[in-house]
Amino acid sequence: MKQQVDIEVAEAVDEIREVVGSWKKQGKAVGLVPTMGALHSGHLSLIRRAVENADEVVVSIYVNPTQFGPDEDYEEYPRQLEDDIKKCREEGVGAVFCPSDEIMYEDREYLSIQIDQLNETMCGASREGHFEGVLQIVNKLFNVVKPDLAVFGQKDIQQYILIEQMVREFKHDIRLIQGDIVRANDGLAVSSRNRYLSDEQRTIAPGLYRSLRYLKQQLGPDVDNVSLMIRHQQDELEAKGFEIDYLNIFDYKTLEPIEQMESDHTYILAGAVYLGETRLIDNMLLRI
Ligand code: PAF
Repeated sequence: MKQQVDIEVAEAVDEIREVVGSWKKQGKAVGLVPTMGALHSGHLSLIRRAVENADEVVVSIYVNPTQFGPDEDYEEYPRQLEDDIKKCREEGVGAVFCPSDEIMYEDREYLSIQIDQLNETMCGASREGHFEGVLQIVNKLFNVVKPDLAVFGQKDIQQYILIEQMVREFKHDIRLIQGDIVRANDGLAVSSRNRYLSDEQRTIAPGLYRSLRYLKQQLGPDVDNVSLMIRHQQDELEAKGFEIDYLNIFDYKTLEPIEQMESDHTYILAGAVYLGETRLIDNMLLRI
């Protein structure tokens, strides 16, 4: 049931700290859902997870420049703050934190977060500097809001695993919750970037989900031709008009591609593809 409540909209660090501080004084558990806005049903399901698990929820809305490569869609990225605030209000969110670049970044930043190994495969391999930018901003958001819990989606699984690692290594006292992937009726994972697809591309787009689902059904510890099966699905996707960045199966912990699956392991079956200029990602977890 959607509730209409008063929502705080804070642009400054002090403002959001005051709001969160007053909740904490009342003994309330605070949840954070970091977003870049343009909220869709995928975000709303993350927000609902936070609302279920915390007493008060902050949604941050900030299109973080440092996670976009020079040829990526930072300028075109949809910005619709008023509409996003309305959606947050309808979901029972207590506060929206929507800072400017000047608030989140110093004129000159001397420090950065470096990543070893975990950004060398999957999206990290083709989006240089992307995950360093994500960790930099999420670390700042964690320090500003100081939530008790934070929700991130499984759709960006490499991002989730890196944030989990950051929480562990940097000793953030924050519980992470992984939100499920929300899909359209035909299986396409909901994404802000789906709006870039033409009608024709939109009908082709669920092909990525179908390939992952097929592989999930077929793969297991008894299969010794994993790469052959994956190669076959790559060919099928290319024949449908996708350009493949990667489609593979990765170890959940090391994010390395694997050749043979073992029992008692979790794997990520993941793909990133282009339809024209639009990059689509999707994944499924395999617990064996
Ligand atoms: O997943 C996203 O939308 C972004 O990467 C995040 C976590 C909000 C950081 O800018």
